Amino acid sequence: MIVSEALRLGVQSLGHAREVRLLMAAALKIEAGRLILHEDVALDEAIGAMFWAYIQRRLDGAPISQIIGRRQFWGRDFKVTQDVLDPRPETEGIVAEALTGSFSNVLDLGTGSGAILISLLMERPSANGVGVDASEVALEVARCNSQAFDIEQRCSFKHSDWFHEVSGFFDLIVSNPPYIPAKELDALDAGVTSFEPHMALTDGGDGLSAYRAIFAGAATHLTPVGRIIVEFGAGQGPDVAAIALASGWKDSEFRKDLDGRDRILVAQNRH
Ligand SMILES: C[S@@+](CC[C@H](N)C(=O)[O-])C[C@H]1O[C@@H](n2cnc3c(N)ncnc32)[C@H](O)[C@@H]1O
Repeated sequence: MIVSEALRLGVQSLGHAREVRLLMAAALKIEAGRLILHEDVALDEAIGAMFWAYIQRRLDGAPISQIIGRRQFWGRDFKVTQDVLDPRPETEGIVAEALTGSFSNVLDLGTGSGAILISLLMERPSANGVGVDASEVALEVARCNSQAFDIEQRCSFKHSDWFHEVSGFFDLIVSNPPYIPAKELDALDAGVTSFEPHMALTDGGDGLSAYRAIFAGAATHLTPVGRIIVEFGAGQGPDVAAIALASGWKDSEFRKDLDGRDRILVAQNRH
């Protein structure tokens, strides 16, 4: 069987041509953009078996990024495993917002794959940063990504429950924390709840506990001119802004995602 024939059969069973092409490119260990050059080539038996195993995993609901082990974020290719949240396009809003101002020392709370922190450091070659996570295995993925982008001298990763093990001051604190209320987990797509780490999705409570810890802890870790930029879930904006205000942050503004929904809060200046 040649590659194009396997692609056709793959689309018949999976239904998504784009995903099938990504899976075939991963099995062939080539960039998806180069697949067209391989379409008339006979499919090696072992590679074919891998391709069909990938198709089956996708049919079982595994996210495409976990199957191919990669995810594009802010124009770069990140390693992704079952131990980290699959970085979402809307989270690029944190990076976009952070880059509207200056910073030299960033703290990323709940760094996961390191996608936010590493993207920021890649865009600002003189900046340094720390990525924190309560998951050791997630931190291994983040370290691996920092090495792949050759910035491990400019960032360190720390196992910590939010600020507990963090010392020093930062002029930018970013976070995309687990914000899904426990009672809403059942309503999520099974591909999310079965394949992504539970602790990356929810705090097990009302979905707001991370914001309480972040805005309170930032009081002793943010420089006077620094900014806090956090992502939140649909409808959580007023609660998150109220937590920021109650923790002493007097100026906060929302930013919208591409669907026009408030998605990010930028907080700064204490009373
Ligand atoms: C929604 S994921 C975000 C991952 C990554 N920053 C991104 O945007 O793709 C939340 C992350 O917070 C981490 N986390 C959960 N509870 C934590 C805690 N108490 N302290 C530090 N990190 C925590 C999770 O392990 C997970 O990596």
